[in-house]
Amino acid sequence: MRPADLIERKRDGEELAASEITDLVLAFARDEVPDYQMAAWCMAVYFRGLTAAETFALTDAMIRSGDTLDLGAALGRKVVDKHSTGGVGDKTSIAVCPIVAACGVPLGKMSGRGLGHTGGTLDKLESIPGFRVELTTEEMIAQVRDVGVAIVGQSAHLVPADKKLYALRDVTATVDIVPLIASSIMSKKLAAGADAMVLDVKVGDGAFMKTLDDARVLAHEMLELGRRAGKEVTCLLTDMDQPLGRAVGNALEIREALDTVRGEGPADFTELVLDACARLLAYSDLEIDAEEGRRRAELAVADGAALATYDRWIRAQGGDPDPRALPEAPVRVSVPAPRDGVVERVGALAVGVAALELGAGRRTKADPIDHAVGVLCFAKRGDEVLAGDDLAEVHARDETSAAAAVEAVLSAYTIADEASAHHGIVLEVIS
Ligand code: URA
Repeated sequence: MRPADLIERKRDGEELAASEITDLVLAFARDEVPDYQMAAWCMAVYFRGLTAAETFALTDAMIRSGDTLDLGAALGRKVVDKHSTGGVGDKTSIAVCPIVAACGVPLGKMSGRGLGHTGGTLDKLESIPGFRVELTTEEMIAQVRDVGVAIVGQSAHLVPADKKLYALRDVTATVDIVPLIASSIMSKKLAAGADAMVLDVKVGDGAFMKTLDDARVLAHEMLELGRRAGKEVTCLLTDMDQPLGRAVGNALEIREALDTVRGEGPADFTELVLDACARLLAYSDLEIDAEEGRRRAELAVADGAALATYDRWIRAQGGDPDPRALPEAPVRVSVPAPRDGVVERVGALAVGVAALELGAGRRTKADPIDHAVGVLCFAKRGDEVLAGDDLAEVHARDETSAAAAVEAVLSAYTIADEASAHHGIVLEVIS
């Protein structure tokens, strides 16, 4: 296998054989193909795409680059899992996992770190003092068995090719391409032993897929990869034109996830969490439908079972579940509405970038994260506001970064004279 040949043939729009893709990916994972050649191949894929057979070969090669986990055999249960394609204010797993576990369905999830302006579940969880994301596979299985839930970092042994490729794509403008996202997500879910999964495909200016049409294509590719592997997959196409919920920033999002587990979360986020819980419960071995799943999820929130599971889970991973233990930013500045009207737009990308600039995300892989900072968007699309009302609140490390963020968040808002029609959080369901 000569990588330069494969790059050239992909650049010219040829379909590569499955064995060629396997050789390329496995050699890259073994450090035998340098980053610059793999980056060139990704860019060729960006412009030429991959056929269904090539995408399947890529997914399969990524799985074969490392170990696989049979969580189902270890637990003696059908394994359900969820994954999001990434957005702004997306703390869904942190609320979904304890609710589903409280309903009697164990969830052991491998999550990732932030990518660009999108936040990562691991970074959010690390704002909890003491919380450990690096568990061994044995520790993770034991915790899922005892507590019902674990969220951990992707082990270095599981899909190492994706870990390397993902980091390379992040810095070579090759993230937002359907076959590479589909194979990245599905290789991780399949290697971790999921039998059925709910995939949250974000759509909008804060997501990698900007249009419903693009999101549908991604959803169908992931469904096809799942079907070929004999798995049940549902894709929720969900709104990422405005931040999800109110909180954007690590510790702020943990507080909001906890509020939601308590039944006091914002409406859009609560709806997405309960919808995902209902579908995961319907996929589980409880043998109930989604309607009953929804009823049980709501009950677990209302009677405190989900909160008790959250507490046990956070403690099991070494963290302090008390929200008062979370770090708080020293500077808080409100973003007042410039006029009366109805909120027409809260640009998710602009808010995500403002949070990133405050220090909530990384500009380079080595950047440390400031867990305390971020933005609370109190006013969301469709809300009526009066001039001077708090649209949002910036949580910053210092006055200078706060002032810049206030400007940026203000520019994310459009206030109109009248309300226009707007949709709910779940735009479409594809299964
Ligand atoms: N999430 C993933 O896991 N992989 C991608 O490529 C994009 C989002």
